[in-house]
Amino acid sequence: MNGKRDFLTIKDFTAYEIAVLLDRSADFKNGRAAGHKPLQGKSIGMLFYKTSTRTRISFEVGIYQLGGQPVYITQNDSQLSRGEPIADTARVFSRYLSGIVIRAFEHKVAADFAAYASVPVINGLTDTHHPCQILADLMTIKEKKGRLKGIKIAYIGDGNNVANSLIEGAAQMDMELTLACPEGYEPSPLILSGAGGRITVLRDPKDAAAEADVLYTDVWVSMGEEGSAAEKLSKFAAYQINEQLLSYAKPDCTVLHCLPAHREEEITNEVIEGPHSAVFDQAENRLHTQKAVMEMLVK
Ligand code: CP
Ligand code: NVA
Repeated sequence: MNGKRDFLTIKDFTAYEIAVLLDRSADFKNGRAAGHKPLQGKSIGMLFYKTSTRTRISFEVGIYQLGGQPVYITQNDSQLSRGEPIADTARVFSRYLSGIVIRAFEHKVAADFAAYASVPVINGLTDTHHPCQILADLMTIKEKKGRLKGIKIAYIGDGNNVANSLIEGAAQMDMELTLACPEGYEPSPLILSGAGGRITVLRDPKDAAAEADVLYTDVWVSMGEEGSAAEKLSKFAAYQINEQLLSYAKPDCTVLHCLPAHREEEITNEVIEGPHSAVFDQAENRLHTQKAVMEMLVK
């Protein structure tokens, strides 16, 4: 061990560290950290097995703003596509790069990459976790509500990677989170069992949304699940965030979506374009929070 730290799941940071990261993210956003270039002379690799808009651009821009050079490569245009092992790829990357962002299918690929890399590895989404997203979400909630502790979040829909990381984030920051998911689409039982008492999973979206400060949803069909799209869409019809569901939440409720959104599926156009929606602030905050993470981890 060389003392490097990875960010593979939200649990890699303590509640105190998350609070520090969110303060630092606000510094980046408000210009108080302008001109600070901790990545000067450093290159950061970005290995993506899946497509991306926000994660790719916010990391590339963030690395540039911190003085570094992003090096983007996909599985398809690397020797990974011809069978070069993760273990070799991770060790080779570590000889050129000061940090690595990875977006993969199985979480194990990111974990194995981190185990073999001698530089920090940051998870830019796997099938079971999306920790960078949740830091941006926490920042957005803090901006809108002034605090995190005690805030009531309702997550409506698929118990996917975003839901799993949201559970870990809410538990870490002492928030109340209720998830409404169709039967068979609940979040990871392992993650739930490690999350403590203020996380609840139930069936009825109205019960979850009742008196919520924040309503959150994500797509019903995640990347890699396209084969089961028809089956999922039929089971999720009642799990849409629309004006009616919004009426159960607090009048000043904030609506979040990690994007990309499928309008009229998990959320109506009216709500995502409406006055409660903070989805573009949320997307912007990916940039600020990831800069804070890289500043903390990359040496
Ligand atoms: N929210 C998010 O991670 O978006 P991308 O898939 O566009 O990176
Ligand atoms: N759950 C979605 C999130 C995309 C940012 C997916 O994995 O495709």
